[in-house]
Amino acid sequence: DWSMAAYRAEMVQKIRDQVGSGRVICALSGGVDSSVAALLIHEAIGDQLTCILVDHGLMRMNEAADVVQMFRDHYNLNLKLVDASDRFISQLEGEADPETKRKTIGRLFIEVFEEEAKKIGGADFLAQGTLYPDVIESVSFSGGPSVTIKSHHNVGGLPERMNMQLVEPLRELFKDEVRVLGKELGLPDSFIGRHPFPGPGLAIRCPGGITREKLDILRQADAIYLDEIRKAGLYDIIWQAFAVLLPVQTVGVMGDGRTYEFVCALRAVTSVDGMTADFYPYDMDFLGKTATRIINEVKGINRVVYDVTSKPPGTIEWE
Ligand code: XMP
Repeated sequence: DWSMAAYRAEMVQKIRDQVGSGRVICALSGGVDSSVAALLIHEAIGDQLTCILVDHGLMRMNEAADVVQMFRDHYNLNLKLVDASDRFISQLEGEADPETKRKTIGRLFIEVFEEEAKKIGGADFLAQGTLYPDVIESVSFSGGPSVTIKSHHNVGGLPERMNMQLVEPLRELFKDEVRVLGKELGLPDSFIGRHPFPGPGLAIRCPGGITREKLDILRQADAIYLDEIRKAGLYDIIWQAFAVLLPVQTVGVMGDGRTYEFVCALRAVTSVDGMTADFYPYDMDFLGKTATRIINEVKGINRVVYDVTSKPPGTIEWE
């Protein structure tokens, strides 16, 4: 893609101009955005970049390990995995308010980053894979006033005390453009095509109080759901799909016994940029098969429902 090749060259130059001989620390999550941002910055300044992957305990099944493996196999960039899951979960335990979850996670992220930056002898810049839709953060519905729907922790709340400037090479791009740029940079297709995953991770897919047990249940259900989507060849058609664990227990029957377990909601949407979205119209066989697998394989779930809300009026995430 000619225009993306030109954009790449232009951004590489811009990054060099901004950073000079400074050190950059990058929050790598393994998502397309931070991965592309990291590769672009790596191309511009090489070893001046250190990537940190913070495992906040809110990632999907095997996600941290998969990301580390991908980057170690394909690229020669400094990547450090920090397991901060106990720290995050202990502070989130019992928290039910969506905005408090985001703020707590944002604050802890920054704390962990500060510590890691100190460990590598300080950094002058913090790199982020912020996209244009994140920048415009507030959504204006037709005729109505501009309303802030969700405080995306990867944009707001960076305290001045961090004393680092931001490097955000994707600020002008939409998701589909980031994917083209990723391809340009040689990211494997499996990575480029990954569904978006929110910074606060499974925390905002666990409405009601967060517990370790609920996160484990959710993680298992989500993995089965995504497995079925891949097997059915639907992964690339869908913009984003995930399970949500509802804070509701319902009565069920298993064998001779009564069960009283959680409800799992499944979500899948098509979208171009995440700003608006349509629920995905699965056929009932797919939903039935997936529900049966989740209920049979995940201890703690005895009922599955499907979310048929588009955006607007719903948001993609439940929180
Ligand atoms: P909503 O739920 O607002 O989501 O329709 C639109 C897109 O943004 C993602 N999302 C987030 N991403 N931090 C993020 O990094 C957040 O706090 C956050 N909230 C929502 C969501 O997954 C979807 O792709």
